[in-house]
Amino acid sequence: MPAASTKKSRILTGIQPSGDMQLGNYLGAVKRWVTNQDIQTNFIPVVDLHSITVKQDPEELRRQTVSLVAMLIACGVDPEKSTLFIQSHVSAHAVLSWVLNCTTPVGWLERMIQYKEKSHNQERVSTGLLTYPVLMAADILIYDADEVPVGEDQKQHVELTRDIAERFNNIYGQTFVLPEAVVPQVGARVMGLDNPLIKMSKSHAHIRGHAISMLDDPKEIERSIKRSVTDSFNEICFSNEKERAGVNNLLGIYQVITQKTEQEVESDFKDARGYGDLKSRVSDTVISEIEPVTKRYHELINDPAELGRLIQKGDDSARQYADPKLDIVLDKVGLHRNDGAGR
Ligand code: AMP
Ligand code: TRP
Repeated sequence: MPAASTKKSRILTGIQPSGDMQLGNYLGAVKRWVTNQDIQTNFIPVVDLHSITVKQDPEELRRQTVSLVAMLIACGVDPEKSTLFIQSHVSAHAVLSWVLNCTTPVGWLERMIQYKEKSHNQERVSTGLLTYPVLMAADILIYDADEVPVGEDQKQHVELTRDIAERFNNIYGQTFVLPEAVVPQVGARVMGLDNPLIKMSKSHAHIRGHAISMLDDPKEIERSIKRSVTDSFNEICFSNEKERAGVNNLLGIYQVITQKTEQEVESDFKDARGYGDLKSRVSDTVISEIEPVTKRYHELINDPAELGRLIQKGDDSARQYADPKLDIVLDKVGLHRNDGAGR
């Protein structure tokens, strides 16, 4: 055991409330936050302000926001250990985001891959979609977070956050901690079951057989995995070859859940009788991981008073960090802080 470190790392990671949480979010992100919540200080905003950068149905967004909080708790995020809260409830995020917009060159934002992808082929793109990463920078910088665990797709936004922080520090003096993106090696990318060359995503969840939702029942999970795309090599091993991406993905999913090495995983399947057997074992593994989560979720969502109490607790605890930090920033840029003496 290494000597106890004097300072816990401060981790921040946001998750959007658009669409039900899917297996990719859980294995690529949430599971790790849960595992680490005893040794790290975790801030987990449900980033509803990010969701409205694309059109949302208001009622549905509200429902999804509460549902996601319940799902995160069901996945094991402990409100006593982690600061789990709703981004729009802590207004300091939006205010800091405005301040950072004023020091961030437009060109930096136009370069972002996700912006290019999301705005591609769209006639009208909202300003919010362009400045989305600045709000994300505000989420991170307002808590002096030093690590940001994200999937591969968000790495560029965390690098931009560093640039934004550095620029602000250069202009106004040391203010922000420069955060590091932490991309997990295993399970960093869970791919679509219908198309293992694209990331499993909530935005394709309407396509049958693409994703596994954390609210799917065992029969649905089994059906999706049974139908998943594989190949004709009939060899159960990890591989970077495009043609074998489907089998690689199934093994990757199995690996993150069981926490085994690649060698151990391959050896687990040595006696498997073809891909049918692979699929049914992976499906059993996924079901036994998800079933207890779904049960806890339903208990919580049917107890709105308890859920409301937990949300309030998270919001209050987030504000304790965010509000004083925002005050420092506003003071630095020369915004009037009323000290009661008219200065
Ligand atoms: P989002 O649902 O886009 O807000 O993503 C929430 C978190 O889950 C982010 O850290 C994403 O990078 C991660 N994530 C989403 N989809 C996947 C996936 N298919 N594989 C791995 N990580 C993912
Ligand atoms: N942009 C992230 C995503 O789509 C969500 C997000 C918002 C986030 N703020 C964040 C992630 C801060 C990490 C840290 O996945």
